[in-house]
Amino acid sequence: MHQLVTVLYRIAALTFVVFVGACGDSEAPGTPALGAAGTPGMDGTGGSGGSPTEVALPWPLTEFPELPDIAKDVPEARIELGHLLFFDPILSIDKQTACVTCHSEQWGMGDGLARAVGHSAGLLAGPGRRGPNNLRRNSPILYNLVFRESLLWTGGAATLEEQALIPLFASDEMSADPDQAIADLSAIPEYVDRFTDAFPEDPSVTIENLASALAAYQRTFISDGSIYDAYAAGRPELMTDDEIEGMFRFAEMGCDGCHSPPLFESETFANRNVPEVEGIVDHGREEFTGLEQDRGKFRAVTLRNLRNSEPYFHNGTGIKMENAVRHELEQSRMPFTDDDVRLITLFIDKTLRDERREAIRPASVPSGLPIPVDPPGSR
Ligand code: HEC
Ligand code: HEC
Repeated sequence: MHQLVTVLYRIAALTFVVFVGACGDSEAPGTPALGAAGTPGMDGTGGSGGSPTEVALPWPLTEFPELPDIAKDVPEARIELGHLLFFDPILSIDKQTACVTCHSEQWGMGDGLARAVGHSAGLLAGPGRRGPNNLRRNSPILYNLVFRESLLWTGGAATLEEQALIPLFASDEMSADPDQAIADLSAIPEYVDRFTDAFPEDPSVTIENLASALAAYQRTFISDGSIYDAYAAGRPELMTDDEIEGMFRFAEMGCDGCHSPPLFESETFANRNVPEVEGIVDHGREEFTGLEQDRGKFRAVTLRNLRNSEPYFHNGTGIKMENAVRHELEQSRMPFTDDDVRLITLFIDKTLRDERREAIRPASVPSGLPIPVDPPGSR
């Protein structure tokens, strides 16, 4: 209990010592459907005759949310159709842009750009992408969408089905024409078959089914097997003293109020005084709610897999992780030291990572078109 000793001097009110059955997996994070196999250290906990294991946490242990009904018993054929559509540039006006252009597994499900670049910029994805259609906002990394009540930086979409159609038809993203998209897909026998298998109740190539398949696929990007998850489930040896110290400072500085465990995000919208970009007007959540009090407010996004989300903030003005953390600490209006920045960054970076369920690039897509590429050697 080496680590425990280092943290127990904390104010009692802030410290929760959680006892977890040493070999029980009942408290383990992870959704029943997906299980926690492969979670670091989740297998073979060992334990001495079932005696409880102590872990120190600065907050009450909250279990990972259950998989909602909409993600249960989804036909595999629907998920696979969504997978292919996610990578297939057939849906875009220039036949070179797909969801993966801006949400690539090579860039941790983002694009490594400060702000996204839409169609007519060629096949290249990633930070080198340049083109005429420059978006105002940073591409999010798409983890744990299945648990979300609202989507987008502003909370402006409620479901993944609704959200999928936004980039598809947005004139600066993929700029698809609904009739053309359906005609293009219907002309490819493999897609017709795949839609039939994916939607036995309504075997047709429709925009609705297309959105449903993309949504089903995106619900599989779950991140629940980080070192923190395994630690919280009863493996105290998995986090170093510095990482635990960083976790406690994260809580002391109030970060968990908005980036709340276990997802390290919340449906909180706040104005974090992120520097503006010259020439870009962005009123944030006000553009969705119409309320002036929401001006400049954006969603408290997840800190899981944070490294992938660089450059940071809604407009990509936070260049390095330490700088983004420092900016957020400044917003807390409490005194802090360089050591706080270092330790909090370490905690987030090292212990909240789990990218096992990122998208997997198919060898080819049914249209036969080349899949948008990342610069060689980008990962
Ligand atoms: C040109 C780049 C681009 C393309 C292409 C693109 N996206 Fe995005 N995506 C973005 C940006 C930028 C945002 C944030 C927009 C906002 O919040 O205003 C976003 C947001 C999202 C979100 C919300 C994530 C969150 O955390 O709230 C989802 C889901 C998503 N995109 C899925 C898709 C799907 C599915 C496709 C293909 C049909 C797609 N995207 C195509 C750039 C892109
Ligand atoms: C009042 C709610 C709130 C609190 C408290 C808060 N944040 Fe945030 N955080 C946000 C919001 C909202 C954003 C998005 C801001 C934007 O892009 O304009 C954000 C963004 C971030 C980002 C960038 C994420 C990305 O992917 O771009 C980091 C890193 C971050 N916060 C860390 C922290 C840390 C560390 C603390 C504690 C010092 C903290 N936050 C406290 C609401 C909060």
